[in-house]
Amino acid sequence: MGGTSDIELLDKNGKRVDGRNVDELRPLRIKVGVLKSAVGSAYVEWGKNKILCAVYGPKPCVPRHLADPNKAILKVKYSMATFCSPEEHGRAGPSRRSTEISKVIRDAFEQLILLDKFPESEIDVFIDVLQASGGTRTASLTAASAALINAGIPMKDAVSAVAVGKAADTLMLDLGKEEDNFGQSDVPMAMTRRDKKILLWQMDGILSKQELIDALELAEKGINDVQAKQDAAIEDYYENDDEKYLINVMRKLDKKSDKE
Ligand code: CDP
Repeated sequence: MGGTSDIELLDKNGKRVDGRNVDELRPLRIKVGVLKSAVGSAYVEWGKNKILCAVYGPKPCVPRHLADPNKAILKVKYSMATFCSPEEHGRAGPSRRSTEISKVIRDAFEQLILLDKFPESEIDVFIDVLQASGGTRTASLTAASAALINAGIPMKDAVSAVAVGKAADTLMLDLGKEEDNFGQSDVPMAMTRRDKKILLWQMDGILSKQELIDALELAEKGINDVQAKQDAAIEDYYENDDEKYLINVMRKLDKKSDKE
């Protein structure tokens, strides 16, 4: 954020570096159930980001002294592969940034997962960024929500995330890497599906009060599209597998009774 560059972030025709309109998401593809060894998993390609998320548990908490007799503990580990970006090239291990992102994602899911159903247990969420290009924390949160649903972990609500921000004096949805690195403001946010609760709101740079209100509206529009992709990925997982046919029928009945 705030770096200098010769890149034109918005051209005369209102098109962004990658040809998008200001209210357009980058192409987003989500697939769930991609890892055989995990209880639940999701793979997300969002623009040039490639992110894999695996969920394990609930299982007995290790080490035992961390176990909580009243609820499960949630462990979230966001990591960047050493080859995920020019900045990360050759780096290994956790950083302040990866610790922060793991924490904000854990904080979000602690509000949603019914942890008290699993005393003495742990639930693990591993997020690996294979390729990074701006907005990895929001893509990771979105992947983790789909992977937790795929794992059958009971949650009060699902969550979707997107970044909004300002570049070339204009509010934009879903900042790409150049907009994130050289723009004026970056606001990654996450919202729950039913209750519209904001579980993540971070901000770099400066926005006016009105811009903040407009940014939230723009983000909400993007969030609806992200939700639709998460839903489609989960439905696709069940629809294309005969073994899961019954679960799919039950999901549809649940949806129907929700509406009634
Ligand atoms: O990824 P996100 O936008 O959530 O986080 P950021 O800290 O605002 O980083 C913006 C982008 O810069 C990342 O998505 C990466 O493309 C790149 N970056 C990186 O590759 N390695 C870092 N240590 C920090 C940033």
